[in-house]
Amino acid sequence: MKKLSFLPQLAVVAGLAFAGPAHADEVKGSAAAGNGKVWLCTGCHSIPEYRADYPLVYKVPMIGGQNAAYIAAALTAYKKGERKHPTMRSIASSLSDQDMADIGEYYAAQTASSPINPLK
Ligand code: HEC
Repeated sequence: MKKLSFLPQLAVVAGLAFAGPAHADEVKGSAAAGNGKVWLCTGCHSIPEYRADYPLVYKVPMIGGQNAAYIAAALTAYKKGERKHPTMRSIASSLSDQDMADIGEYYAAQTASSPINPLK
């Protein structure tokens, strides 16, 4: 069942939430560092036309090629609760500002149809 495939990832995310406090200083993202962090995201965001169906049917947006600052801002909005999608909120709440900057740079260097983790 596709709809349960993110549960193991969420269990790991819960563990990562204790990894350490976020830096308040100016944060500079690194695509290479982001490459090691997007395994949380590829299960949903790298599958064309994938739909996550809890609690409603959501079409998962393709974020490859999106602007890095936009991605970091969107993740911050989920973390703060300004954006409401429950799964994205729980995922974003585990990310530090540095993680968001790194992930933003990583996706900015991709295109919508990039293969998963091409930098490896
Ligand atoms: C369980 C599936 C799932 C996982 C895992 C997931 N996302 Fe999402 N994501 C979604 C869905 C569904 C939406 C659309 C939600 C909405 O409408 O607000 C979304 C929205 C987003 C958006 C907003 C896109 C836009 O165009 O505004 C960003 C950015 C994003 N996700 C980044 C990430 C990152 C980074 C990760 C990994 C740390 C991640 N997502 C993990 C399902 C997922």
